[in-house]
Amino acid sequence: MTADQFFWVLARVTGLGSYAALAIALVTGIALRTAVFDWLGSNRAVRGLHEYTIVLWIPLAALHVVSLLLDTTARVGWLDVVVPFHSTYGTLAIGVGALSLDVLVLVTVAAYLKRRMSKNLWLWVHRMAYVAFALIFLHAVLSGTDFSDPAVSAITWGSAAALLTLAVARLLGGRLPA
Ligand code: HEM
Repeated sequence: MTADQFFWVLARVTGLGSYAALAIALVTGIALRTAVFDWLGSNRAVRGLHEYTIVLWIPLAALHVVSLLLDTTARVGWLDVVVPFHSTYGTLAIGVGALSLDVLVLVTVAAYLKRRMSKNLWLWVHRMAYVAFALIFLHAVLSGTDFSDPAVSAITWGSAAALLTLAVARLLGGRLPA
């Protein structure tokens, strides 16, 4: 196996791992605040899993990006990682990945500044996590290698559909008090 092949496999595994962590973070986040799941709202394991996964995606996404930077075949540069649609190759696919990373960093930083922000502003920034996840899904569909594998797609499309259903239920069912 060449170095490029190794970095490519690492990028795929960490991309999928980070995606899975974010999917779990979203499901548990919805479960904590959705009237449909009020019986889960005060569950410690659900809160623990949410707090774990909102951090877990970070090292995995960092490794995903670093391995792509080291993989010379991928032709991804530092600016492509932070500036959406900067890349001349795979502009839309990679650009959506960069945009989702920017939005997620915003949501994550705001999560730690909760006490210094007005409740309303914090809530709206936090809700951007839904947008970020939709963008990551699009990014993975457009640029992924394993994402088109039937076994992987069954899980990823299935979990995305479940998340969409939960998000709609959350919208219709109302929000639990914080
Ligand atoms: C939170 C941020 C990110 C997550 C969760 C994420 C997740 C993923 C996932 C799940 C895949 C599909 C893996 C596969 O099917 O094999 C993927 C592929 C890819 N991502 Fe990301 N990504 C993120 C950010 C970025 C950024 C910022 C860039 C570059 C600017 C990027 C570039 C790529 C490329 C080039 C591929 C294709 C790899 C291949 O050849 O299979 N990603 N990403």
